[in-house]
Amino acid sequence: MDMEQDRKWVSEKINIGKEVWYMTQDEVISTGLTEEDILGLTKDALVAHGNKHYEMPAKIGVHPHPEVFFHAMPAYVPSKLALGMKWIECYPNNPSKFKLPQTTGLMLLNDLLSGCPIAIMDCAWITAMRTPAVTVLAAAALHPDAETFGMFGCGVQGIEHVKYVVHTLKKLKKIYIYDVKEEYMDKLIASVQPKIAAKIIKGKNYEEVTKACEVLSSATFIVKKPYSFVNYAWVSKGQTILPCDLNTFWDPAIAKKADKYIVDSIDEHELFAKAGYFPDGLPKIACETGEILAGLKKGRESASELIVCSNIGMSVCDVVVAREIFNRALAKGIGRKLPL
Ligand SMILES: NC(=O)c1ccc[n+]([C@@H]2O[C@H](COP(=O)([O-])OP(=O)(O)OC[C@H]3O[C@@H](n4cnc5c(N)ncnc54)[C@H](O)[C@@H]3O)[C@@H](O)[C@H]2O)c1
Repeated sequence: MDMEQDRKWVSEKINIGKEVWYMTQDEVISTGLTEEDILGLTKDALVAHGNKHYEMPAKIGVHPHPEVFFHAMPAYVPSKLALGMKWIECYPNNPSKFKLPQTTGLMLLNDLLSGCPIAIMDCAWITAMRTPAVTVLAAAALHPDAETFGMFGCGVQGIEHVKYVVHTLKKLKKIYIYDVKEEYMDKLIASVQPKIAAKIIKGKNYEEVTKACEVLSSATFIVKKPYSFVNYAWVSKGQTILPCDLNTFWDPAIAKKADKYIVDSIDEHELFAKAGYFPDGLPKIACETGEILAGLKKGRESASELIVCSNIGMSVCDVVVAREIFNRALAKGIGRKLPL
């Protein structure tokens, strides 16, 4: 479908410029995208990013309290006719303080020809899905034969990472998990173990999980200070480490001394570094995750390489997934029109 055809199709459902399509989180979910669908869409977005077929300025943010951030994340992916912006917050104390999720926000999509807004939808579910999709696609490209995976942080992201990882690391036998809150580990096991064959094991501490796993990820919290929960001494050659929480969780020496430090977006990592998130300096970047998925750059070149692949989240993935949700919602009549 080209831009004209797309606009014509959308115009049959909403009066562009006068109306917008609104969807709650439940409605976003009920459009029925599966984990395989999300993996396919996310891969398309990463490959478009790797091939530089996109526009996406590094996310800008505001920080009303020291421990929180809001990000404005616009993107345009021409191959998917996907144009829009995510406006997302991260308040790490929300679960304990308000019994609300750490991450909430909205997604806005626009018509390519007139620029008018055409859709507003919840973005928390999209974020919860596309983030593990990026991690596990990168894991499969960098470490396809892994039999062990470790997940630090068993909240929204941790649960989805364990669900998604078995789709791409097909040889996984054991998944170690660790969270400072035991009940979060129990909840993850109760909700995910019945769905997957790999055995989920409750880790005792950071060291045990780090030493037991070939591929590791973390989704805990993001602050400027590196907490170094995992020591460099516990890491070994040949491992693949995929943080979703930037520089907070791991000893900065790990990324600095890694054979390859790969990032989803160089622009974004440089922007975070300028804002003070890498007080010890941004490690030397080998290439971008999308370049590896597009086959443009080499990932793992030997079994002994220590690889860190930091994916902080890119709006190219959000707009591509959101656009597919919008298409399905319009086709199925899920959601409602609101006047502009
Ligand atoms: N990279 C991305 O694209 C992306 C996208 C969304 C969220 N995130 C980040 O992922 C992180 C988690 O998000 P979420 O929505 O899953 O949050 P959440 O609050 O649902 O889960 C966080 C979990 O981490 C645990 N935790 C906190 N400190 C820990 C520690 N020191 N060791 C082990 N576990 C610890 C908490 O107990 C909690 O279970 C946040 O930092 C968020 O900003 C990244």
